[in-house]
Amino acid sequence: MINSTLLKPFVLLFVIALFIGCQEHKMKEIVFPPTDLSLENLIPKPLKIVPTHDAFGLDHTTAIYTSQTDNSFEEVGSFLADKIKSKTNLRLAVNKTDAGQVDRMIFINQSESDELEGPEAYQLYISKDSIILNAKTSEGAFRGVQTLRQLIPETSNDTLAEMPLWPIPTGKILDKPNFEYRGSMLDVARHFFSVNDVKKYIDLLAYYKINVLHLHLTDDQGWRIEIKSWPKLTEVGGSTEVGGEAGGFFTQEEYKDIVAYAQQRYMMIIPEIDMPGHTNAASVSYPILNGNGKTPKLYEGTKVGFSTFDTRKDTVYTFIDDVVREISAITPGPYFHIGGDESHVTKKNDYNFFVNKVEKIVQKYGKQMIGWDEVATADLDSTSIAQFWDSEKNAMEASRKGMRVIISPAKKAYLDMEYDTLSKHGLHWAAYIPVDTAYIWSPESYAGIPKENILGVEAPLWSETISNIDELEYLAFPRVIGYSELSWSTEENRNWENFKVRLANQAPYMERMDVKFYPSKLIDWKESRFTYKSIQKD
Ligand code: ACM
Repeated sequence: MINSTLLKPFVLLFVIALFIGCQEHKMKEIVFPPTDLSLENLIPKPLKIVPTHDAFGLDHTTAIYTSQTDNSFEEVGSFLADKIKSKTNLRLAVNKTDAGQVDRMIFINQSESDELEGPEAYQLYISKDSIILNAKTSEGAFRGVQTLRQLIPETSNDTLAEMPLWPIPTGKILDKPNFEYRGSMLDVARHFFSVNDVKKYIDLLAYYKINVLHLHLTDDQGWRIEIKSWPKLTEVGGSTEVGGEAGGFFTQEEYKDIVAYAQQRYMMIIPEIDMPGHTNAASVSYPILNGNGKTPKLYEGTKVGFSTFDTRKDTVYTFIDDVVREISAITPGPYFHIGGDESHVTKKNDYNFFVNKVEKIVQKYGKQMIGWDEVATADLDSTSIAQFWDSEKNAMEASRKGMRVIISPAKKAYLDMEYDTLSKHGLHWAAYIPVDTAYIWSPESYAGIPKENILGVEAPLWSETISNIDELEYLAFPRVIGYSELSWSTEENRNWENFKVRLANQAPYMERMDVKFYPSKLIDWKESRFTYKSIQKD
């Protein structure tokens, strides 16, 4: 018996042969004006671009073919087809041998080329008649598909051919990420955000090759993830939010739905249960956990640092074991974030004792621990990770312990900081962060941590001042687009003057996606429906 998976590469060869045959019968040659692939508005900027100054005409006679060694390349092809449909209204066939008239092809191809370094690397060869996207893994192919999506013009060129046609500049792109961890965090605890809001954010982040969404699931104001063995956490602790509105929470099924949605976009979800401080909502639900000596009540304000678990009580660790076990079981990624920040009412010894014990619980469930930079004071394993937000001293200490560090300095990378004094939302305790300040710094050298100890970059979005998706988008966009480039592109490839032109050209995409971005005056927005007047305070 012949193994059908062995045959699949031959199907692809057959299709290529058929295609070359068809080319000979092609009637009309489209003459494109010269293009320049290196001037396209790609974000993040790819590692290498070599333009060849012609164009591939994407139209209804284009078809997509993928490697079929497993389903994952075909799924990436279908993802591309869906995105092309929503942008151009063209419905391209994927892996169909009877696709009708096929003049041009997009091949998404599993390749072992030595030029492809790491799982996320890809090569894109765009010629007049074909686009070949090579990657070692479907993850790399997915990143390359984002580049391709960005190369398709927002509008067709109807003067070049009888039917609408979207010209894509020809040339070669070789690309791979500078950092493996490129993230944003969303605080769903201070204000709750729905599954659909989170999915929209995931879609937008994936377009810019961000591959981590860290969900801050618990804080003083709310507990937002169902824990079956401790049901009051959400019944009581999830009932309110900042400002006193009804809060909300994700059932485990909803969380799994978010995780699966992110996975389809090659994005990892990192759950954070913040402790031993930031735990008022848990202690209101189960007062036995409380260690601050006061009777806990639901909290709808925005102060920090007043709550703590009782770090010397066995029940607390039984509780944490259950929480870590239940969440780890529905989180495929390798990380579990334990928070650990601003535990101002936990004694230093108790804090370190607690972090050490919780690290072991996280490891027991097969995960690597991440904590905000304060955790570096505990006696941690080098496999644990510190997230630098505040203290360079802590970040350096983590690095000395051989731990890797996520770079998220509040002064540069906090998405909840106001742009300037006119900002409608946000805080400014760390800094005002206009769009240029957000971009013009170097995660590679900011805290003096050796590059090999830097896992990547994350831009956290805290939600004290935002309560709906429009407000979320106002703070996140456009700054998070800059953070994607700070984490994907090399330092040599980053340049503010060049970036701000590419950023200006993201307006049509954001408008099509109905993103209520902040139209910063620093950017000469292209085709924006926003006027600068809209940023004035009402
Ligand atoms: C933090 O901003 N408290 C990590």
